[in-house]
Amino acid sequence: MDVLSNTTHLHIFTWVVGIILFLIAAGMDKESKGRKILHMIARLFYVLILISGALLFFKYSSNDAALYGVKFLLGFLTIGMMEMVLVRSTKNKSVKTVWILFFVFLLATLFLGFKLPVGIDWFA
Ligand code: HEM
Repeated sequence: MDVLSNTTHLHIFTWVVGIILFLIAAGMDKESKGRKILHMIARLFYVLILISGALLFFKYSSNDAALYGVKFLLGFLTIGMMEMVLVRSTKNKSVKTVWILFFVFLLATLFLGFKLPVGIDWFA
């Protein structure tokens, strides 16, 4: 699996596509078939984000187990909020708090990801 975890490119590709699909689906009509399809593809990307993140995690977390653990958790929570926004809005439940949490977790995940040593290293 080295070819998939030597760089962070695969992981970045999966979360960029996943987030774009999520944002488009969230903006679509709740009843539309297109939204259901996009939601399904977004779920596939959640799994790909998790797999690509886990590959990096297993390979590099011994560098700093605590921070990598936090990165894992924040990434997981970001995906959780994406799923909650889509599911709760189809049920007509309030999504304001979940949206706020999505942005908070996303920013924290991006910051920590770019701070950790592998790949892009903006905040070292
Ligand atoms: C939407 C969710 C996620 C976002 C936005 C995200 C974002 C990022 C970013 C920006 C990086 C840095 C890439 C680089 O420096 O080149 C990164 C790296 C990483 N991510 Fe994620 N991630 C997410 C989910 C996850 C999940 C669920 C896991 C664990 C299963 C995970 C584990 C990792 C690991 C281990 C790294 C390498 C850190 C390093 O040393 O640079 N990520 N992620």
